[in-house]
Amino acid sequence: MCLTGFMGSGKSTVAKQLSSQLGWINIDLDRRITDAANQTIPEIFAKKGEAEFRRLEHEQLVRLIAEANEDQKPRIVSLGGGTAAQPQNLALLRESGAALIWLDCPIEELLIRCAQITDRPLFRDENSFRRLYQERLPFYEMADYRVDSNVPPARLAEQILALGIFGKVTV
Ligand code: S3P
Repeated sequence: MCLTGFMGSGKSTVAKQLSSQLGWINIDLDRRITDAANQTIPEIFAKKGEAEFRRLEHEQLVRLIAEANEDQKPRIVSLGGGTAAQPQNLALLRESGAALIWLDCPIEELLIRCAQITDRPLFRDENSFRRLYQERLPFYEMADYRVDSNVPPARLAEQILALGIFGKVTV
């Protein structure tokens, strides 16, 4: 199962919670990228640019889907905020049979959450953040499931569990 949603929507936090609750493998795509590149995300953006970041992101997504197909163990994957907004990634996710869950959170709340965190190269200023959110919405809306993520983490985990898809998908 893959979690999608804008920066600050709570993907990594709820993934940790669900994986410890259920014993599912927890995979963070951003973490895979930074481990493979041996650089932080801001470093990759600054030194190599966004296009190279997207290439690395796609490469790691291909890998993790292959791993899931091989071992068939259930896992929860936190995608980056832009992953599913790249058409080739969305196609790959569709093909793999992954269940895509959109953590939907109002832009005003995302702004509050992200203003406190400084490691997101795509959070430059409020206007560009709002613009990017609007551009991404049509992609997020293509997810298989939507949950309201403007709630405390425990409530978010409950909503995801209530979807009843655990045990039916590996990615
Ligand atoms: C990005 C979101 C980030 C990270 C990178 C690009 C985006 O992930 O992948 O900074 O394009 O929205 P989070 O959504 O986990 O912050």
